[in-house]
Amino acid sequence: MNRILVIALLSAQASIVSAVDFKTQVAPLLKQYCYKCHSEAEKKEKGKLALDNLTKFATKVGVGKMIIPTDAAGSSFYKSLELPKDDDDHMPPAKETQMTEAQIAIIKAWITEGASFEAGKAGPAPVAAAPAMADDAAMSGGMAGGAPAAGGLQAWTNTAGQSIQASFVRMEGENVVIQRADGVAFILPLSKLSPESQALAKNGGK
Ligand code: HEC
Repeated sequence: MNRILVIALLSAQASIVSAVDFKTQVAPLLKQYCYKCHSEAEKKEKGKLALDNLTKFATKVGVGKMIIPTDAAGSSFYKSLELPKDDDDHMPPAKETQMTEAQIAIIKAWITEGASFEAGKAGPAPVAAAPAMADDAAMSGGMAGGAPAAGGLQAWTNTAGQSIQASFVRMEGENVVIQRADGVAFILPLSKLSPESQALAKNGGK
C-alpha cells in the first residue's frame, strides 16, 4: 500500500493519490451488499440512495455530504458500515449479509483517497459538488460565486506526504476548505497538513 502511494506521488500526472479503484474495487461491493435496497435498476432507492447511478451517487459526495472526500470517519456513509450491527443506522441492515472487515477497509481507503469515481481522474461530482460549494461559500460570506479563481490551484500536502492540487476556499475554525479543479471540495484539519500547507492555509492560500 505505502509503496503504491509513493509511486503514485512520484508520477507527475497524479494530482491525487489513488490506490483504490471505484469501478473494479468499490462498485462490486456496493452491488453485492447494497444494490438490493439502493439501486435505480432495482427500483429500490431506500433513503433516496441509488448507488448504481453515479450521477445521483455523486450528489452525496462533498463537504457536509454523506461522503466527505478524504474524511472517512466524518462520512455518514462509512459510519453506517462501522456502527455496531444492532444499531438502527448500521448498513447493511442486521438481517442482511454483512461486509467483511477487509471489504469495509476498502471503502474506507477509497474515501480517504478522495472518493473518486474514475481511475486516474481526480473526481466525482464536478457538476453536483460545485454548486453546493458555491452555496456554502456564499453563506459564510466568503468568495462571491464560490468558485475559486482560475489558476488558483496549488499543491496541498498532508503529514503523510500525500498531495493534491486544489484552490484555497476558506478557513473553518481549525480546518481549511479547499476545492479541486473539478469542483469537489475537501475540508482538512490543519493538524493533518504539512507545515508549508498549514502556513498556506493561514495566509489565505497566498
Ligand atoms: C435490506 C435493505 C438494505 C440494504 C441491503 C442496504 N440498505 Fe442502506 N438503507 C436501507 C433503508 C431502508 C434505509 C433508510 C433508512 C431511513 O430512511 O431511516 C437505508 C439508508 C441508508 C443510508 C442513509 C441514507 C440517509 O440519507 O440517511 C446509507 C448511507 C446507507 N443506507 C448505506 C448503505 C450501504 C453502503 C449499503 C451496503 C453496504 C446498504 N445501505 C445496504 C436499507 C438497506
